[in-house]
Amino acid sequence: SSTDATVGVPLDGVPVRYSRDLFGHFVEHFHRQVYGGIYEPGSPLSDASGFRLDVVEAMRELRPSVVRWPGGCFVSSYHWLDGVGPDRRSHYDKAWRVSDPNTFGTAEFVAWCAAIGAAPYVCTNAGTGTAEEMSDWVEYCNLPEGGRWSDLRAQHGSPEPLAVPFWSIGNENYGAWEMGAKTPAEWAVLVREAAKMMRRVDESITLLTAARADLEWTLPLLEAAGPYVDMVSIHGYWDKLDQVDHPSDYRTAVGQSLGPQHDISRTVAILEAAGLGDRVTIAFDEWNLRGWHHPDGTSRRAIEARDRNDDNSTYTMADALFSASFLSSCLRAGDTVRMANIAPSVNTRGPLFVHPDGVVRRSTFHTLALFAGELGPLVLDATATSRTLDGTDVPVLDVLATVSEAGDEVQLVLVNRDPERTLECRVSLGGRLLEGDHPATLLTADGPDAYNDVDHPTSVVPRSVTTHFAEGGTALGPHSLTVVRVALP
Ligand code: AHR
Repeated sequence: SSTDATVGVPLDGVPVRYSRDLFGHFVEHFHRQVYGGIYEPGSPLSDASGFRLDVVEAMRELRPSVVRWPGGCFVSSYHWLDGVGPDRRSHYDKAWRVSDPNTFGTAEFVAWCAAIGAAPYVCTNAGTGTAEEMSDWVEYCNLPEGGRWSDLRAQHGSPEPLAVPFWSIGNENYGAWEMGAKTPAEWAVLVREAAKMMRRVDESITLLTAARADLEWTLPLLEAAGPYVDMVSIHGYWDKLDQVDHPSDYRTAVGQSLGPQHDISRTVAILEAAGLGDRVTIAFDEWNLRGWHHPDGTSRRAIEARDRNDDNSTYTMADALFSASFLSSCLRAGDTVRMANIAPSVNTRGPLFVHPDGVVRRSTFHTLALFAGELGPLVLDATATSRTLDGTDVPVLDVLATVSEAGDEVQLVLVNRDPERTLECRVSLGGRLLEGDHPATLLTADGPDAYNDVDHPTSVVPRSVTTHFAEGGTALGPHSLTVVRVALP
């Protein structure tokens, strides 16, 4: 037969309700993410608070559920008191070697989250900071009154709590690159003590802690602090072969598509080994592809520090399709993976490129918008069979199936990862081969290396199409993502 791939979507299983916090974001104080990104007082594009309104509008299109801030590596020597009230103190950040004026601090972050319709998620300094400094920050934000720091907040013009629901202890504190890095034993004790104090101030917070898909680091952490935390934060960056003067490499990028699923499985196994598999969940609170490979061997940190990740030509259809695989992996594991934050949201390698005169929605922006905007809240257990993408172990077809709350529409996310070849695909839904025309949204471009830039911002954009099925069969164009909507009787 001419069929290259088959999809089966049973309708009699128990669907999984995923968390909309999988459509989360991350903004860190380095490069032009905050200053010259989301916040640019004095720009004709900004409001009276200094928030870039074009950025707010674009972010709202992504229907963000939650935003993590202020780091990243940045947070590991950040002191929140420098960024509150009328007298801001600048500080020299050791992670990125930049001076931060601290004019964008806690209150500005919470206000920006409100502007884009997302919940704030504060990541604390567990590098050079103490358990007490972390709990003082919770007090400043969430204690209604009666504490030194809640009173300071009131003095700063916010008698009502800032009501930050998500908090985490630390960022990648296992890493040698991190300021104040810890050994597993040191980490376990610090997290337990910080968690106790933070919860004493506000019992209702959702508390995360920096972990990794590594038994040696995460098991002692869970043994000591497991009773106090709700989620473990893990980070997923997958390397792609591009950057700077190098052309993007589609196969290397898309070849990473199984990475997220592997990390999820490894982390689930650690949670189970700690006996916490039914209570503690996973936040992929930084994720993205990253291009590090510089032809002259320049180090990763140097590439980042020089802001070379801002080159729009390196964010292609490959990034859009990898992002779809990432999100599909998380939604499929939606009972355990309960948050994911694209890292970062703006500039460097983020979905939104912000420049002084406007914004560019990169290819990945459209993937995020489709997932956050077009899918039902429940995931069905779909299966797919196809050959692998040449030179990789990655199936050429990826499928995610979701269903509406009312059960009257199924959404199929069909990704053809092949850069050149159309995929003939046969879909069976509830035991019947799909027939006829169904409305769909198609994200593709003229070529696999297509990208959006200031001069051509719409090379990769979604289009409304009709997908035709005959005896279950349909043709998926190369390097494409299709969301098909099938009404159920
Ligand atoms: O590139 C961003 C950095 O990557 C973040 O600061 C850190 O958490 C991660 O290592």
